[in-house]
Amino acid sequence: MAKSIIDLRKADLTLGQAAASVHVLKGIDLAIDAGESVGIVGPSGSGKSTLLMVLAGLERLDSGEIHIDGAGLHAMSEDEVADFRGRNIGIVFQSFHLIPNMTALENVAVPLELANVKDAFEIARRELVAVGLGERLSHYPGQLSGGEQQRVAIARALAPSPKLLIADEPTGNLDTETGRQIADLLFAKQAERGTTLVLVTHDPALAARCSRQVAMRSGEIVSDAAPLPAAAGEAVPA
Ligand SMILES: Nc1ncnc2c1ncn2[C@@H]1O[C@H](COP(=O)(O)OP(=O)(O)OP(=O)(O)O)[C@@H](O)[C@H]1O
Ligand SMILES: [Mg+2]
Repeated sequence: MAKSIIDLRKADLTLGQAAASVHVLKGIDLAIDAGESVGIVGPSGSGKSTLLMVLAGLERLDSGEIHIDGAGLHAMSEDEVADFRGRNIGIVFQSFHLIPNMTALENVAVPLELANVKDAFEIARRELVAVGLGERLSHYPGQLSGGEQQRVAIARALAPSPKLLIADEPTGNLDTETGRQIADLLFAKQAERGTTLVLVTHDPALAARCSRQVAMRSGEIVSDAAPLPAAAGEAVPA
């Protein structure tokens, strides 16, 4: 059996102060095997993005444990978590989060340079070519379409060869066809590199392409299953 790359135990988190406090994650248990693709679904406000932030080490639990590839993020210092994230976790957001005054190439290369990776610009160039943007290296985000910006963000996320790729509504800001192309790219990269993919989506067709769907409601996991074969078959044409 594949080894769990994500192991979340009794994960509990309340955000906000006093009257504005929200019990966002209510003792969540979740184990994900290396190489799985998991779609997290559920109503707005159910805690999906917060769960992803916990998986990325960007949000700390109040109680419970989070192990990524055997490493206990809950017990690490902020610096240790940041270092671990830089080497092991790629993140893609709905609104791309590119740095506007850096070119596509710089957006991918600079984080590598900051992590002291050798040949950062060459790796960045290769990653951009691999997402189909070999002709857009010197473009700034404002000169790129939404789909192209998300390709840059995917290249940036994949450049350090992370074991885990996390995406929060990666197609949410894109039209249907562009969103489908971005999903194709994410699944292709996941398959090619054996990366574990955890994504949040409101799009049932995208969730159905994942090998497993986890549904949340009010801070809890209410179902956890592989999609129905018929639904998966429709969504993934041969
Ligand atoms: N910093 C915060 N302080 C207080 N409450 C917060 C904070 N961040 C999130 N919440 C609350 O936690 C709940 C879960 O938020 P989260 O962003 O995880 O939901 P979501 O499932 O991703 O929703 P959506 O589908 O709309 O993106 C929401 O009710 C939200 O208002
Ligand atoms: Mg969200």
